Amino acid sequence: MRRHNIQLDKNGRLRHFLTIEGLNRKLLVEILDTAESFSGVTAQSIKKVPLLRGKTIVNLFFEASTRTRTTFELAAKRLSADVLNINVAASATSKGESLLDTLHNLQAMHCDMFVVRHDRSGAAHFIAQHVAPHISVINAGDGRHAHPTQAMLDMFTIRRHKKDFAPLNIAIVGDILHSRVARSQIHALTTLGVNEVRVIGPETLMPADVEALGVHVHHDLREGLRDVDVVITLRLQHERMRGALLPSEHEYFRLYGLTEEKLALAKPDVIVMHPGPINRGVEIDSAVADGTRSVILEQVTHGIAVRMAIMSMAMSSRANLEGEII
Ligand code: CP
Repeated sequence: MRRHNIQLDKNGRLRHFLTIEGLNRKLLVEILDTAESFSGVTAQSIKKVPLLRGKTIVNLFFEASTRTRTTFELAAKRLSADVLNINVAASATSKGESLLDTLHNLQAMHCDMFVVRHDRSGAAHFIAQHVAPHISVINAGDGRHAHPTQAMLDMFTIRRHKKDFAPLNIAIVGDILHSRVARSQIHALTTLGVNEVRVIGPETLMPADVEALGVHVHHDLREGLRDVDVVITLRLQHERMRGALLPSEHEYFRLYGLTEEKLALAKPDVIVMHPGPINRGVEIDSAVADGTRSVILEQVTHGIAVRMAIMSMAMSSRANLEGEII
């Protein structure tokens, strides 16, 4: 018997967006195609469409963010929704109110969607299980578990540059162990059918069971970069590390820092990506981060259209539930 996927409504359409795991290729391509149609809105002089007029979207960020929070806010505003940014440090959560009580209060204000970032893996899923049926929950990053909208904006960026996923060899370099971004990217890339996903990093930063996700493991950066089409570098996530997993940042840069010299082993038309925030001189050299093969700032731009797509798709499934037309 197939397990019910809480993310989908009874017609298989997106209701919540919590993880890439369990979503099929058709749905991922639909997100990318919908985002493509929204990317033109950003280039218009009036950067707005009325799709979510009258809807209220709440940004609930329990953990720091620059890119994700602001692009979610911009995406919601470009869809004409009303946006509330809850300052968690200044909210009643800091006075001991439970997460569920905070949510129930926001629900009582007739909000339509929660965009949630939390340092606990599973937080967005937990919230989705407890909200009223008319509310959609979008995961903006939960602990080490998933960052699905980041993965989709990365897929959008890759498709813009490489057109077809099938022939691509993709390397993800760095702190795979603590990375929710890497986990979501691996699920997206394997579902979209790329030729090969390589994960490259020291043994101390590699999950023990990572090969079960359908990737090839490399501990030697030069070997892993050979003939790749895309390199995704990751930040060392010190805030999630328990104990000393590395000798020093200087040594890490020597072995795993992406430099022009190491990048020369990849294909000549390789693109370099990073979800941000970047740490120059730790996982990436400035010459690469600012170089011609870097698409790091393009990723940020595409985040708006991709988040518009995901929010509008989740809300249109919800409209069906209510018999509404949006
Ligand atoms: N990529 C990413 O999640 O960045 P922020 O932490 O700034 O949102």
